[in-house]
Amino acid sequence: MQTDFLVIGSGIAGLTFALKTAKHFPNKKVMVITKTQSDETNTKYAQGGIAGVWDESKDSFEKHIEDTLIAGDGLCDSDVVEIVVKEGPERIRELINYGAAFDKDEQGNYALGREGGHSEFRILHHKDVTGKEMERALLNEVAKTKNIEIVSHCFVIDIITQHHLGYLVTKSTQNITCLGVYVLNLNTNQIEKVLSNTTLLATGGCGQAYRTTTNPKIATGDGVAMVYRAKGRIENMEFIQFHPTALYEPGISPSFLITEAVRGDGGILRNKDGEAFMEKYDERRDLAPRDIVARAIDNEMKKAGTECVYLDCRHFDKEKFIHHFPNIYGKCLSIGIDVMQHLIPVAPAAHYSCGGIQTNEFAQTSIANLYACGECASTGLHGANRLASNSLLEAMVFAHRAFLHIAANAETAAHKEFGNVPDWKTLGTSHPREMILITQSLKELQSIMSDYLGIVRTDVRLERAMKRLDLLFTETEELYRTTKVSPQLCELRNLITVGYLIVKGAEFRKESRGLHYNTDHPNKSDLLQDIIL
Ligand code: FAD
Ligand code: SIN
Repeated sequence: MQTDFLVIGSGIAGLTFALKTAKHFPNKKVMVITKTQSDETNTKYAQGGIAGVWDESKDSFEKHIEDTLIAGDGLCDSDVVEIVVKEGPERIRELINYGAAFDKDEQGNYALGREGGHSEFRILHHKDVTGKEMERALLNEVAKTKNIEIVSHCFVIDIITQHHLGYLVTKSTQNITCLGVYVLNLNTNQIEKVLSNTTLLATGGCGQAYRTTTNPKIATGDGVAMVYRAKGRIENMEFIQFHPTALYEPGISPSFLITEAVRGDGGILRNKDGEAFMEKYDERRDLAPRDIVARAIDNEMKKAGTECVYLDCRHFDKEKFIHHFPNIYGKCLSIGIDVMQHLIPVAPAAHYSCGGIQTNEFAQTSIANLYACGECASTGLHGANRLASNSLLEAMVFAHRAFLHIAANAETAAHKEFGNVPDWKTLGTSHPREMILITQSLKELQSIMSDYLGIVRTDVRLERAMKRLDLLFTETEELYRTTKVSPQLCELRNLITVGYLIVKGAEFRKESRGLHYNTDHPNKSDLLQDIIL
């Protein structure tokens, strides 16, 4: 198969890019590949909303920039922060033009929410199901755009570079070039190659590396692992964000999120004794940035020997709560929690990857002809900790910038020829006899990451994690060599790579900053640096 523009991922990043590119080049073909059904993405589960300076009589770009920089704890790229904050509102307007309906107040103005680390109310939302509404609007627009083809249930295994043509490719090879991807078509069970001069990775996050996560099953870090295998640059993977308030529901995965917007509207965190503990940790109390709130909760749970703390919403006006948070109200009620009468049990859960595939201000990766945006990319916006609701914004801004770069260079872009790209070489031929081996290894990986690479880290834990990952890696590579590839095996392999990158990043970072907190190196270093892997 061949296409003019190839997009991997049908979340906000992939679809935004696909729409812009398809509309600009109506005679060219845009193919969007997605591994399950088209709307099964992290995007669909976004709750709180999308941050943007909307009401300039109360808010300003300077304030949003400042809040982002403070949350990022010294490691944001300030030029990138400025780009995202200033270009963001225009991207949100485009989404509104596609039909996304954000909530309005009685006067007809957008009802702006607030979350941790934000000094102003600036978050546009659709109830507590903002992502679902955005994904709906985007897919609806895609359906009207004739030159976009969505190919669902196709699992991208690897990006194709000159390595597949027999050339030696190492980390120091100049001009590693992407020629397309190898895809396991789950409809036919065949591995196909899709060639393109321009590929965009929008493969999302990697929360499934952890036992407890808000991320759906698709979030297995595939794009990051593929780029790492192709010798591209990955950075800052140690900054895994734990959302402070996932619903504590043992045995249920992924964890249901209780949006930070609930705290923005006045929800109060309490420990098992009913104490509103956040005031002991930060003057911003329940609305401090996420790294601080998650660490405070972790500390309270460890001190009390409990597995959760509580979110108190009993003082809310019932009608208002149901109006803003109908999904949360319904979910809690379904498990016997009436939020007007009971405390909501919550605990931190792996939520977002701040690092990822290193990209520049036009979403270009270190591999030629390969762009990346959305959660799989590391643009420099988030630094050591992402400010709430900046992720959807970043995805749209960089999808647009990738498009701008491609549009500006379309005339002169060199069409790389590396000879005939070979078909996929099947290594293993037997079917995995024991699927349990894969599911068991996945559980082991998730335990290693949760136990040793959680909110609080130590050197010994990192060392242990690396040793255990080594063994899992060896066993899984053996399985990969001898059995037929399956999405489950590829995802396990990708998650082990992601786990390795998180541990490696954490080992190199001999300090505590933002989301990376190592009790053996409790202070911040004077040297501000990205860890490039
Ligand atoms: P995704 O939306 O995750 O899409 C990834 C796509 O890549 C999917 O289509 C998937 O099938 C495809 N894919 C992946 N690997 C492969 C492969 N190997 N082959 C083929 N296809 C592949 N952020 C905010 O800014 N505000 C919020 O309110 C907010 N709330 C959130 C709530 C929850 C519960 C979660 C989990 C996240 C939340 N986030 C929020 C974060 C935000 O939703 C994500 O960071 C963002 O949606 C990521 O978008 P994306 O397009 O990069 O990836
Ligand atoms: C939330 O709604 O609390 C999640 C927002 C985010 O991850 O940015």
